[in-house]
Amino acid sequence: MREPGEASKVAAGMEANGPDYARLDQEASTLVFALAKGSAADLVYLGARLPEDEDLAALALATARSLHESQSDRPPTPGLLSQRREGWSGTPAVSLGPSDENCDEAPHLHEVDLRLSEWEARAQQLSLTYQDDRFGLEIEQRWRITASGMITAKASITNTGAHAFTLDGLSALAMPIPARFDQLISFSGRWASEMHETRQPLAPTGFARHSAIGKPGFGGGNWLVLEDEASDEVLGAHLAWSGDYDTRVECDNAGASDGRPILQMGARLDSGEVTLEPGARHETPEVLITAAPDRSALAQRFHRHAREQILPKGTQTAPRKVHLNSWEALGFNLSEPDLFALVDAASELGIERFVLDDGWFGGTEERRQNDRTSLGDWFVSRDVFPAGLTPLIEHVKAKGMDFGLWVEPEMLSPQSDLYRAHPDWCLHTTGAPRPTMRNQLVLDLTKPEVTAYLAERLNALLTEHDIAYLKWDHNRDLFPLTGKGTAHTRALYRLIDDLRAAHPAVEIESCSSGGGRIDYGILARTDRIWPSDNNDAIERLRIIPAWSQFVPLEVLGNHVGPSPNPITGRRLAMDFRAKVALFGHMGVEADPRAMREADRTNLAAHIALYKQWRGTLHAGDLWRLDHPDPGVGGLMVTHQDTALALVGQTQFSPAFDAAPIRLKGLEPETLYRVTLPQPWPPKAALYLPNAQSWQSGVALSGQSLMTQGLALPLTHPETAWLIALEKITT
Ligand code: GLA
Repeated sequence: MREPGEASKVAAGMEANGPDYARLDQEASTLVFALAKGSAADLVYLGARLPEDEDLAALALATARSLHESQSDRPPTPGLLSQRREGWSGTPAVSLGPSDENCDEAPHLHEVDLRLSEWEARAQQLSLTYQDDRFGLEIEQRWRITASGMITAKASITNTGAHAFTLDGLSALAMPIPARFDQLISFSGRWASEMHETRQPLAPTGFARHSAIGKPGFGGGNWLVLEDEASDEVLGAHLAWSGDYDTRVECDNAGASDGRPILQMGARLDSGEVTLEPGARHETPEVLITAAPDRSALAQRFHRHAREQILPKGTQTAPRKVHLNSWEALGFNLSEPDLFALVDAASELGIERFVLDDGWFGGTEERRQNDRTSLGDWFVSRDVFPAGLTPLIEHVKAKGMDFGLWVEPEMLSPQSDLYRAHPDWCLHTTGAPRPTMRNQLVLDLTKPEVTAYLAERLNALLTEHDIAYLKWDHNRDLFPLTGKGTAHTRALYRLIDDLRAAHPAVEIESCSSGGGRIDYGILARTDRIWPSDNNDAIERLRIIPAWSQFVPLEVLGNHVGPSPNPITGRRLAMDFRAKVALFGHMGVEADPRAMREADRTNLAAHIALYKQWRGTLHAGDLWRLDHPDPGVGGLMVTHQDTALALVGQTQFSPAFDAAPIRLKGLEPETLYRVTLPQPWPPKAALYLPNAQSWQSGVALSGQSLMTQGLALPLTHPETAWLIALEKITT
């Protein structure tokens, strides 16, 4: 044991001649790195912008630790590339295996010795190069900070040696977590119930999640929020990848290293999935991280990044159109008379886009009448459409709407012409059973003939018809996928990218039984996300705030569903369903013909409100509203001179006099004209004093609205209010 007095030397990275320091800054954020040539790179600071003249060596010293009694003489510093070489016991950021021809020469985990060889800091980017000369490995990590304050990190590995080896894992990000973040908010879910939050202390147990179904799935482990409980500051993290992920936070309880937990995120690789021949290089997807003063500010950072850097440009030049989707109205029971009547009813509501969902296609022996057949046979069913799709599309257009079509290109029904012709085109193991899910198999996109067939079919559909929009669905897990996950995801990206390039005006929505594949990788090539198959407004009051922590409202499809709801069985008033659907990209997924006249009128009024407010909702800053009653939740968007808030109530209030709802994001000194847009929730509206004032508008300062708030009648379950604000300019 070391004597206490001996513990005097500061921790690794602070050698006698000391490391160099580099900083990356943006308007509101700073990142500081310690760079010790021949040794390691470390994170010194990640947070709010520091002064220009901050002494970076002093900054490092301020959080450096001395040695304790039970520690290596030179404690391992996992830093930005955790390795085992100095006795660190966590998961290494790089793990390698032997290739077939190189059984004896692959480095063991304890032998990898990657040392920082050079770095380049330029504008808002830092690239770090590490080398292991003995085994011929080179790692490059690239950090970037964007104008929005979003930090991106990714890594690549190059085989600079003479022998091939396999790559079993490479973290896109490996980073010591700044010590002030002590809480971990993670997400979990299932079909129709996505993105539930769990809060837990970050230490001492840490956290580990991964997916192994070829996509992120409903599990939500590709998103993370770390929180400093004392100040509300949060750090959000996400892997921008539509394949499997591996997320972990490892805490060094034993104190072998410097005690900081390490956050690692990357694409999960199967053992031996990637073989690196001499000279070959493999690159990870990107991780996004950012620290922000609170969860509203964090949402705004992600939204700004998505809007400026991720979402496809070009398609979103016009306001987001109100959809009517045929699925909940007709299911598989498609007929031209029904569809034409549905189009007419949609147009009377003010719908702007008619989306024909599942059931329109088929092959020579069967057509898609249920979910057991025809995926792969992407030909318009002549049983349903004797003259093809064009008459329906013409009718839709004559009513002033555009036309969208559902497809599920990556899938294959065993009962289909395509499967009969090409039984080897699906993911399978030779000689083994082919397990189905929703009665379907998955096409192997790593086969060029498969993607060529899909490209031909999709191109033909888009060329032969006037289609403005595709709903691209993906309704099962990918297995058996062993060893092909990365190649499969990349092939999917190429397929969509090529299609977009050939049809630049066509918008694409990504759906995966709802929220089974939502990430910034798919968002970079799609315009809209279907966040959940669950349209129940009570569920949506949780699901939309959860997704909008990371994804902007305009991308989140939000539909008015039927009552009773087909998934939950719950009956909810139209006024409530319609208000909740307004916060997102609004649509209707119910049969207007089956609605009562009063409900149709109410829905049409909300569609008109959406059209009036979408300019604010889809470009503004999102704020998460708090209320002491757990049954009350709210979101608010501020944009230029306007703001709109949604306050929803799920349960009967325990208090007669519910606490006022306090708004956010307003200018304290500015006067706002506040109205409660109608229609109002019928029962709750009886409890609204001075109804006339709330119609014509009440002038209140931003300060009073944020400090004291508005005492809405927040008593009745299953009601919602909209609050509209406009700056009063004198
Ligand atoms: C999935 C989607 C639904 C609908 C059906 C059609 O479940 O999530 O929205 O398109 O497929 O089969």
